Amino acid sequence: MKYNFDEPVNRRGTDSVKWDLDKEGVLPMWVADMDFKTAPAVTAALVKRAEHGVFGYTHPSASYYTALSGWFKRRHNWSILPGWVLYTTGVVPALSAVIKAFCRPGEKVLVQTPVYNCFFSSIKNNGCETVSSPLVYDGGSYRMDFTDFEQKVADPAVKLFLLCNPHNPAGRVWTEAELRRIGEICLKHDILVAADEIHCELTAPGIAYTPFASLSPDFLNRSVTCISPSKAFNLAGLQTANIVAADKDLRAQIDRALNINEVCSIGPFGAEALIAAYNEGGEWLDELNVYLHENFSFLCEFCARNLPQLRVTPLEGTYLAWVNCKALGRTSEELAKELLQKGRVRVNAGSLYGAEGEGFIRLNLACPRAQLAEALNRMKTVFDALL
Ligand SMILES: Cc1ncc(COP(=O)(O)O)c(C=O)c1O
Repeated sequence: MKYNFDEPVNRRGTDSVKWDLDKEGVLPMWVADMDFKTAPAVTAALVKRAEHGVFGYTHPSASYYTALSGWFKRRHNWSILPGWVLYTTGVVPALSAVIKAFCRPGEKVLVQTPVYNCFFSSIKNNGCETVSSPLVYDGGSYRMDFTDFEQKVADPAVKLFLLCNPHNPAGRVWTEAELRRIGEICLKHDILVAADEIHCELTAPGIAYTPFASLSPDFLNRSVTCISPSKAFNLAGLQTANIVAADKDLRAQIDRALNINEVCSIGPFGAEALIAAYNEGGEWLDELNVYLHENFSFLCEFCARNLPQLRVTPLEGTYLAWVNCKALGRTSEELAKELLQKGRVRVNAGSLYGAEGEGFIRLNLACPRAQLAEALNRMKTVFDALL
């Protein structure tokens, strides 16, 4: 490997949400950022920009859109025209603006639980109601329930479907067939699709991400896609994301909502980082994905050997492992609390992602393997005591 993901980086004292919440000694295996340095090309671009010394208001130029569309064409065979792209400060602000644009207070937004917790808050903050079509869990992995989904979208109050592709926390990278089926149902019932594809670069070897909107002109025109290099290149703090909306009326509505919410500008560092990541980060990302997959294999082997009561959900995409701990007979909250207090490991309680997540924990694997090993050893001590 050319890049060294084993290198520990001390993030304490950097005002890190992940590391500075707890006192020294706690291993944070929760919020979705990575403990790796970003791609060297990104750091070099940021240093160069910092050396300029003037950091005024920023309006991304053509190179921003060229980098974005070049990446999606090369990596995902999706042609994005520069004019389709609206930038904003994050994918959550993007989703919130999309909900505001297309739903009036009291209307309903469909999600597939368990799902990323900010979906619930964004829907609520816009005065709307969450309707769930739970994913089907067969004790191993997850799939969509198309019959239930169609029943739910048939409700005339449902206006929007928030698709999570790849899915956090279920770990699925939806197949073309699954996306086509769900997309056809949405077209039939005239439901707009907002595809949160923030995790799209983080896929296990041999697993391909399909951009929902790339599947047909109808899907493209009746959907919007929220993307960012932030997860894959560890840039969440630079607060830059994009909304791809090919239809000009939908785009105008979102643009207005972004302005009402006052999240319609980004900073110079976010713009430079995006350009460097998309133009030069491919090789680094490929190695990152190999390392993350090895971390996942490490987790699976550790559990098989030491904690066979747990069931680890297959991880096709994201670096967030979803572990079924129901055999321990505790709620997710209780497990997370025990792990923090007795094991000094912070994880996310599965119930954060909807009722279907009860009995699960979510574990962030994006750290050097030695840290993962230490966290797992601590988890074993806590869980052994519970068993
Ligand atoms: C599915 C999903 N969407 C959005 C976000 C957050 O996006 P942002 O930090 O750009 O608001 C996350 C972070 O974990 C996520 O998992």
